[in-house]
Amino acid sequence: MQKFFFLAVGFGLSTGSALAQAPATPSNAPKVKTAAFRPGELWYDTDGNLINAHGGGVLQVGKTYYWYGEKRAQHQEEGVNVYSSKDLYNWKYEGVALAPATDPQNDIAAGCLMERPKVIYNKKTGKYVMWFHLELKGQGYKAARAGVAVADKPTGPFKYVSSFRPNGNMSRDMGLFVDDDGAAYHIYSARENYDLRLARLSPDYLTATPQDSLLFSKHQEAPALFKTGGKYYLITSGCTGWDPNQASLHVADRPFGPWKPLGDPMTGPNAKLTFGGQSTYVLPVAGKKDAFIFMADRWNPKDLKDSRYLWLPVQFKDGQPTVEWLHHWNLNFFNNPSTKIL
Ligand code: DGJ
Repeated sequence: MQKFFFLAVGFGLSTGSALAQAPATPSNAPKVKTAAFRPGELWYDTDGNLINAHGGGVLQVGKTYYWYGEKRAQHQEEGVNVYSSKDLYNWKYEGVALAPATDPQNDIAAGCLMERPKVIYNKKTGKYVMWFHLELKGQGYKAARAGVAVADKPTGPFKYVSSFRPNGNMSRDMGLFVDDDGAAYHIYSARENYDLRLARLSPDYLTATPQDSLLFSKHQEAPALFKTGGKYYLITSGCTGWDPNQASLHVADRPFGPWKPLGDPMTGPNAKLTFGGQSTYVLPVAGKKDAFIFMADRWNPKDLKDSRYLWLPVQFKDGQPTVEWLHHWNLNFFNNPSTKIL
């Protein structure tokens, strides 16, 4: 029997700035069954609350996807939220996967920043490993550390393990990537974001090995690495705080490069500003060849929890990944691109 999920969605067209936020209560959220992505619009979970998972990433476990992201109040960071879904449209809130510590001496004491969390699964240890960009309480963005936490289940609770500067390098915006051979990598903005670096993780994925090198120095952040057809692709943003800027695409035959620039992969209106968003992850869709979703955040610095999600299909034109703005689309797009609504 078909299971019914209900998702409340907003219907205004997104034009660049965040829309006024509707109160996130189950009672007022319009319950509409959906099987569509509406980038930039209000996106509610299956309880009728707005999804709060910014700068996030997705892990697939069996037939379930888990979406991890920053839990934001208006400005404050409140830990890492996790949601689950079987269809990528309808997300169930699974709670706080990693909560800030109550002990003010702890690295992840309440008031710290845990940004851009990503979770991968380690087959050897059977553990779920989370990495995130950690900034210590009261220090702005000075600490520039990578934080690591671990759990037995994808929904957590994750236990904080440690934080460090990988091989002594500053580490701010980051992503994780697991290759087909099980080798995992931490890709991160270093040296005040001027350098983008890649470090191979230890076999347990809990730390960075000395196999760590500079990919390029182009003042980029928000790295999202994916692989298809034996090639590695990397989407990054420029560095303009919460403001949107132009995205870049690079390609390589190996994770450590050399990485060749391919220009801006975004196309269509507002493409030069990444449609008002900033990359966070490229999500491989299970069971479909060359089906990837580009995930970005349209930040609202006046009310960070109201930052919106831009999920758009990656298209391959002349063998090169591009991302086109679509107001409304669903996974059928990957079988038949004529289903798109521009
Ligand atoms: C841009 C980064 O990509 C975000 O994750 C966040 O750190 C903001 N800068 C803060 O200004």
